Amino acid sequence: MTQDAETLGTMLARRGFGRRSLLKFAIVMTSSLALPPSLAPVMADNLAKAKRQSVIWLSFQECTGCLETLLRSSAPTIDALIFDFISLDYQEALMASAGAAAELTLRQAVAANQGEYLLAIDGSVPLKDGGVYSLTGGRSNVSMLEEFAVGAKAILAIGTCAAYGGIPKAHPNPTGAVGVEDVISGKPIVNIPGCPPVPEVLSGVLVYFVSFGRLPDLDDRKRPLAYFGTTIHDQCYRRPFYDQGKFAKSFDDEGARQGWCLFELGCKGPTTHNACASLKWNNGTSFPIESGHGCIGCSEPDFWDQGGFYTSLAGGSAAGWRNAGIAAAVGLAGGAAAALSARSKSSRPPEDKP
Ligand code: SF4
Ligand code: SF4
Ligand code: F3S
Repeated sequence: MTQDAETLGTMLARRGFGRRSLLKFAIVMTSSLALPPSLAPVMADNLAKAKRQSVIWLSFQECTGCLETLLRSSAPTIDALIFDFISLDYQEALMASAGAAAELTLRQAVAANQGEYLLAIDGSVPLKDGGVYSLTGGRSNVSMLEEFAVGAKAILAIGTCAAYGGIPKAHPNPTGAVGVEDVISGKPIVNIPGCPPVPEVLSGVLVYFVSFGRLPDLDDRKRPLAYFGTTIHDQCYRRPFYDQGKFAKSFDDEGARQGWCLFELGCKGPTTHNACASLKWNNGTSFPIESGHGCIGCSEPDFWDQGGFYTSLAGGSAAGWRNAGIAAAVGLAGGAAAALSARSKSSRPPEDKP
């Protein structure tokens, strides 16, 4: 359960994986993290010297979809994540023990990794009525978060619920749900929004942390720039149809069959920052728009209350929106500028600070 003394390099060598394997892996991960290729050997060396990172995962007001997303991670696989790069020291749904034994496990894991563990949270934090709407072992989520944040080196807010309150916060927010950063200050926090988040984004953040001992560069909403620096619209393969003014008017018309843009059917891709259009889902198979449905903006704050999923951002036809260049302006304000910043930052090595 505790951080063992063996390095990842030693552990992998024992299993027959040499530096070349680690370097190949680092090349894939630096590309995914928008880091310069020259950092791949540095990442490989750092991973070889690293000890397994303790991760303590607490589930609050959630639906378990975010945990499912980690289990579906393909790069690296969950087995590799758990056994090679992280030590998942506490996760209620995956561990065998329950009740008092599980609570003892949590306390032991926290004590053994004090000041060093990553605290992963999925689910929102209900604050109303003293937080009584979500309890674990009789304790409110908010009191657990406050206690276990103290000894954490950094906090991962996994999913839109943990990042911004998510669906539990949807109007009228009966439990007073908020995100982690509304409760905790003074700790490094990374938001990995999405309902659920793209699994490879979570893997990338974990591998970066193990490699460099700090969180990757974040935007003003504490999201990793490498994955949230552009909008879905910026990367969408249907974008040429948008630019040509070719829009599906219903889900079964000729335009839909031809794969035209889904803007007028409610697609929120122009205002949604996420990596779905490039990383895709299910080992790179597809993503919502490729399946024929518009993006519902699931990685943005308050997405549930931002108008109907089938109402266009323009409230009707795309003509005025396109002519005014609103999508481009939104992308520049929230994404493209951040992406440019990310790229310029990525040309330098990560700073040597937590
Ligand atoms: Fe479930 Fe979505 Fe919340 Fe994750 S972000 S816990 S998938 S509702
Ligand atoms: Fe793709 Fe949606 Fe943008 Fe159309 S509006 S190009 S479907 S992201
Ligand atoms: Fe969510 Fe839109 Fe991606 S709905 S899964 S952010 S395409």
